[in-house]
Amino acid sequence: MARRRIIAGNWKMNMTPSQAVELCATLKDLVKNDDVDVVYCVPAIDIVPVAEAIKGTNVKLGAENFYIEDKGAFTGEISAPMLKDAGVEYIIIGHSERRDIFGENDILINAKVKKAFAAGLKPILCCGESLALRKAGTYKEWIARQIKWDLTDVTADQVKELVIAYEPIWAIGTGETATADQAQEVCKMIRDVIAEMYDAPTAEAVRIQYGGSMNAGNAAELLSKDDIDGGLIGGAALKPDFGKIVNA
Ligand code: G3P
Repeated sequence: MARRRIIAGNWKMNMTPSQAVELCATLKDLVKNDDVDVVYCVPAIDIVPVAEAIKGTNVKLGAENFYIEDKGAFTGEISAPMLKDAGVEYIIIGHSERRDIFGENDILINAKVKKAFAAGLKPILCCGESLALRKAGTYKEWIARQIKWDLTDVTADQVKELVIAYEPIWAIGTGETATADQAQEVCKMIRDVIAEMYDAPTAEAVRIQYGGSMNAGNAAELLSKDDIDGGLIGGAALKPDFGKIVNA
C-alpha cells in the first residue's frame, strides 16, 4: 500500500512571530511538492501569524502542545477548539521533551490522543528510547509498551488517520542520526504492534515517521525504507535545507 509521505517540522521554542513569518517566506517555493504532506508544527505564539503566512500554499499547520479540556482555569494552556479555530490540523503529542522535561506520562498522553481525535485534530504521536535502553537492548519492548498505553481505547479507524513518530531520544538534537536500518527495524516493529493490536489493514494505513537529526544529507536513505513514511524534523526544519528533505 502506498502511504502518502509526511514531512513535518517541529520548530520547538525557536522562532519569534516575525522570524516565523520570515521562515515561511524563505521556505515557500522550496517546500512545494504535490506528493508530500508538508506540516509546520509551531509554538502557540506563532500559530496565528504562520496560519496567515501559509495561506494559499501547500503547507499545513500543526501545533506542539494543548490541554485536554475545552476551556477553564488552566493558566498558560491552550485548548483543542482554540487550535482548530486557528486552522491547526496536526498536533504533536508525547514528544520526549514533553515527557522528560514537563513530566507528561502515558495516561495524560493517551487522554491527549483521544481528545485530539474527538476535536478533529490529527495526532503525531511520538515514541522512542533513551540511550540507556538502546544499549541495554530493551528498546523494542519499551516502545511497544508506549504504543499500547498511548493508544488505549483508540479505534482502528482513528489509528488509520494517525501519524506515529519514532524518535530515538539519543538522536534528537545530537547529530547522531539512527542508521536507516536501525530506524527501519523499529518502524517495522511499531507497524507489527499496530497489526497485533488492531489488524493488518490498520497497520498498513498508519503513517510512521522517523525523527532525530534527520537532515538533507541522510533523508533520502531513511525515507527509502519500506516502513518509514516521513520525518519529524527539528533543527533542519528551521533552514532552507528543509526543502531538500521535503523533496528527498
Ligand atoms: O520532533 C523532532 C525533533 O525532536 C528532532 O529534532 O533537531 O534532532 O531534528 P532534531
